[in-house]
Amino acid sequence: MLNLADKVGQGGVRLRAQADRVEDFGRVLGPPLLRYCAIMAGVVVRITRNIPASTTWGTAHYGIRLIHMAQIPAKAALDLLDFYTEAGVDALLGEEPVDCFATGEAPPPAPRPAQTALLPLDLERKGRAAPQVAPLAPDEAAMAARQAAKSAKTLDELRTILDRFDGCGLKATATQLVFADGNPQARAMFVGEAPGRDEDIEGLPFVGRSGKLLDRMLAAIGLDRTKVYIANIVPWRPPGNRTPTPQESQICLPFILRQIELADPDILVCLGGPSAQTLLGIKDGITKTRGRWFSFHNGAREIRAMPTFHPAFLLRSPLQKRFAWRDFLAIKKALAG
Ligand code: URA
Repeated sequence: MLNLADKVGQGGVRLRAQADRVEDFGRVLGPPLLRYCAIMAGVVVRITRNIPASTTWGTAHYGIRLIHMAQIPAKAALDLLDFYTEAGVDALLGEEPVDCFATGEAPPPAPRPAQTALLPLDLERKGRAAPQVAPLAPDEAAMAARQAAKSAKTLDELRTILDRFDGCGLKATATQLVFADGNPQARAMFVGEAPGRDEDIEGLPFVGRSGKLLDRMLAAIGLDRTKVYIANIVPWRPPGNRTPTPQESQICLPFILRQIELADPDILVCLGGPSAQTLLGIKDGITKTRGRWFSFHNGAREIRAMPTFHPAFLLRSPLQKRFAWRDFLAIKKALAG
């Protein structure tokens, strides 16, 4: 865990954060009081993503000059750190603040990227300009997600469309899209809840501690990532690894449904209660539903689906591994049949 307080105490920090546009810089730095504190603390934010490739300032660092740390009221400084933690700030880029404004590299205003998720892919292929679209209300975002997901004809297209989709707020705080890992042709597909910190950094699902356990569980039944396909309900890391809100899950749902439809596995394994409840539409908790076979309509046909414990839960409750072992044996048997 980063001790941001210590780092600020040393006179300044540089943080990695995300913004779509230079105008969003203020949003990344927080509300006005916190922004003031950030300036006082010499916080330097590097904008790391969604910078249009055509702009020359895409990789620049934007700095705020260190003024005087001692002027920050203690509570405000703590509020500032809380804000960053909540916002998903997860990397210190350096010990010393850098005043890039002093170098005269102030960025030119950038055009707002259009919400291309609303664009059918072939419109773009024909080279037509993307229409500018206002930010979407949640219902509109869910509808846009359904339309966008439906328009994908392949998993590659789906990944591209999802990467451009701006209807889910999690995209703004995540480092990158975490789409899938493994073999899309595999007969078994495993779906978790949402990426964590390691997944957010690597851009692949289940690569952290719970992913390592998942790999061991797969190996125990003779599988590895060349023989399974892995994804999540929500493809962007929620800030601070919080649980995705029901609204965020609902907005992302059409994409994972389409991903399952396009991958067309014979067996779907829901890792954890939230995945099972979202995909299978069941209300019961995972302790009740794990190890049972459900029918799942993947858009084209019925397939078998089983909820099992999430590996992160098994890391916290190792005694439950014996139940997960039974589930994995049942999965092995189903794949043999
Ligand atoms: N937990 C999940 O649900 N998914 C991941 O990718 C990693 C951890």
